Amino acid sequence: MLITRHAEARAVLDDAAYVPPPVRQDGAEGTLAWLRARVSRFSTGEIHAGRRRVLVELLAGLEPAELRRAAAAMTEERDGDWRGVPTAVLASALGVEDTAAVPAAASGYLSGEQTPQADAAVARLLTLAGVPVITLLLQGHAATVGLIENALRHAGPGDDPEAVLDETLRRDPPLRATRRLDTRTGETVTIDVVAANRDSDVFADAERFDPARGPSPHLTFGSGIRPCPAPGHALALAAGVLDALLATSRPPRPR
Ligand code: HEM
Repeated sequence: MLITRHAEARAVLDDAAYVPPPVRQDGAEGTLAWLRARVSRFSTGEIHAGRRRVLVELLAGLEPAELRRAAAAMTEERDGDWRGVPTAVLASALGVEDTAAVPAAASGYLSGEQTPQADAAVARLLTLAGVPVITLLLQGHAATVGLIENALRHAGPGDDPEAVLDETLRRDPPLRATRRLDTRTGETVTIDVVAANRDSDVFADAERFDPARGPSPHLTFGSGIRPCPAPGHALALAAGVLDALLATSRPPRPR
């Protein structure tokens, strides 16, 4: 079933009868499949609650304002070459200085697509950090890069990074869908986040990109039982990059 309405999407995300589709539990130690069987994102019930608590504690030790400042400084240092910045800043705040393996590990993390490269990257990351820290790096990586990419399609020099990011999250979300399994029927439900975020029952003139809209009840960070635990951190990392890129001294980017 495909869900496109905002109210229905929220009802599913609020309902404990819907769980993330289970992932395989028999992956060899240290592989991507092994990691996916151990993270909060793909677990349910008490196990999920316990794993999520560890992540929330780790995140509480990170100061979003500091992440933003560091992301802006690193983007400046790299002369605007920002792609590795959000993950490098987050990793450094978590005590990891080498992020070379993150993109390859992150590429299969949500999809489960197993490749020798992804397995090798997971093995490398396990030499640098434990599962909770790796979870944060892999969860954050592609979504934060995607958010910045999408925001840059709308932003120009002098624009307010936060206003552009809030509206990008609603109108052009980097994560376009999420899935749940209905434990009563066995049916898989796909929530179309793009459609829900443009539901005319909730958002006036929903197709229009309007940074003046301010923060809105978009579903890009999820909702209900297991939303993203790090929206403030993600926004801070992205805003820091935009602070540097949108500083008026930089050349204008295409809108
Ligand atoms: C623009 C950037 C981001 C977006 C749009 C985003 C969105 C989401 C969404 C929608 C979920 C829930 C998925 C679902 O239930 O189906 C989620 C989960 C999660 N996100 Fe984010 N996220 C972003 C960045 C980050 C960052 C930077 C971190 C780490 C610092 C992070 C950590 C997590 C974790 C650990 C979970 C799993 C939570 C759980 O299992 O209960 N995210 N994210």
